[in-house]
Amino acid sequence: MAIRNIREIGDGVLNKKCKEVKEMTPRTKELIEDMLETMYEANGVGLAAPQVGILKRIVVIDVTGEDPYVMVNPRILEVSGEQTGHEGCLSVPGKTGVVTRPNYVKAVAYNENMELYEVEGTELLARAICHEMDHLEGKLYVDMVEGRLMDVEELEDEEE
Ligand code: NI
Repeated sequence: MAIRNIREIGDGVLNKKCKEVKEMTPRTKELIEDMLETMYEANGVGLAAPQVGILKRIVVIDVTGEDPYVMVNPRILEVSGEQTGHEGCLSVPGKTGVVTRPNYVKAVAYNENMELYEVEGTELLARAICHEMDHLEGKLYVDMVEGRLMDVEELEDEEE
């Protein structure tokens, strides 16, 4: 396993659409392990393959720190409700902005063994699934921000 370099906004790889994973190879398994390690090391709750420069439809998410989801070729089946709140991205360090997302998401994906499974989430998990899946379409949350993009420090001051 290895920590991979996280690409930052301005890097063209973040604006490209990702390709389906057709089969699980040792190389792709290694990528998934590296993505998890890279996400945890950066204290993130999600990471998509293009953020480490790989244009494959793979995301990893862990909103609790002990319950990782590996989502290969994820698809959203159902959404409902709405939540409006602050969002951040490891590819946009030090920034945050308000984004409205569904409050409930049901998705289907393959795991690292290419077994199909369903994920259901509300609140942060629902937000993370939407955010990470946007990365696979080459979309960043900064283009969906309501109001303006803020510095994380600015937000911390505001909340004090
Ligand atoms: Ni992100």
